[in-house]
Amino acid sequence: MTEQDFIPETYSKTKDSGSVTWSSPSNIALVKYWGKKADQIPENPSISFTLDHCKTTTILSFSKKESSDIFSFEVFLDGEQKDSFKSKIETFFKRIESYLPFLRDYHFKIETSNTFPHSSGIASSASGMSALALCLMSIEKELSGEVSETYFNQKASFLARLGSGSACRSIEGDLIVWGTHKGIDGSSDLFGVKYPFQVHQNFKNYQDTILLVDKGEKQVSSTVGHNLMHNHPFAARRFEQAHENMSELIEIFKNGDVDAFLKIVESEALTLHAMMMTSMPYFILMKPNTMGIINKIWTFRKETNSKVCFTLDAGANVHVLYPESEKDAVLEFIKSELAIFCQNGHYITDQIGFGAQQISD
Ligand code: DP6
Repeated sequence: MTEQDFIPETYSKTKDSGSVTWSSPSNIALVKYWGKKADQIPENPSISFTLDHCKTTTILSFSKKESSDIFSFEVFLDGEQKDSFKSKIETFFKRIESYLPFLRDYHFKIETSNTFPHSSGIASSASGMSALALCLMSIEKELSGEVSETYFNQKASFLARLGSGSACRSIEGDLIVWGTHKGIDGSSDLFGVKYPFQVHQNFKNYQDTILLVDKGEKQVSSTVGHNLMHNHPFAARRFEQAHENMSELIEIFKNGDVDAFLKIVESEALTLHAMMMTSMPYFILMKPNTMGIINKIWTFRKETNSKVCFTLDAGANVHVLYPESEKDAVLEFIKSELAIFCQNGHYITDQIGFGAQQISD
């Protein structure tokens, strides 16, 4: 597939107005996307677990307008008008308009809400951009008539990527690869694909509890962070390492080796932060409580032989990953030893999910 494949022919149907609703999840990367070329073309392949409970629901209402000169839309978060979201959406519309030529023909009302608090420090761009991309695809489907499910999902992921890179991994589940990798046929820099190989039972229903260490605004926007990988002294080696880690994970997913899995996952998280610490300008996004949690997890693992591990986003919060078979023991550990590191003791219990869902009106 190339970009050209996502430019539609003329639409066979017309529609004056309507409304579509999608609910789309967040995802957590195991091999991280950090570093991009223009339009969210990633510097290296990444792979993620799709989440289940952390999601955004978006209702997109559309009505035909007189002229097609400008983009016209309004945005609401939890029922309140959010003009601060407009410039991001305007940029998104500009990037995708050649793939969705109807965008200037309608006025849109975008009503969105998240299952997680907006101020939780959990990035809503993956779930939010994927939900919006899916709504737009539903409109395109109404205008084109028949569209195959594969094309629908691929184009939704392709559009979501143009909004926010990691959003392209939120359309489906439960394991999604994005970025070309030689060992994974069909992998693409343009959109996410379902991981195509065998996955051992040990990795089914994996659990993710998100410890909310710092609910504040992000110190560094991800776009600024990605750009710091340009001229970064360690970038070239880091991109190679991501390819190597993907190759190793293919074996690990097959043979079920959770010890090898957690080494790669934790190393990826620390490498992401190491890249930020060694860029110019440099940042430390981990907080003392992030380190407190990591040390507690390592001690717990040593003492109990548990397979619990952590990963991090570009922030201070910690994702605690563990097999379903350890759910009770790890939740008890989180409650008794890790919750104290969280702001107001807050954490969110989630698990692997299977992708976005259309909600019928
Ligand atoms: C650290 O997808 O938020 O979460 O493409 O600029 O919108 P943009 O960046 P974004 O970057 C996410 C980076 C990450 C790692 C990952 O999810 O792979």
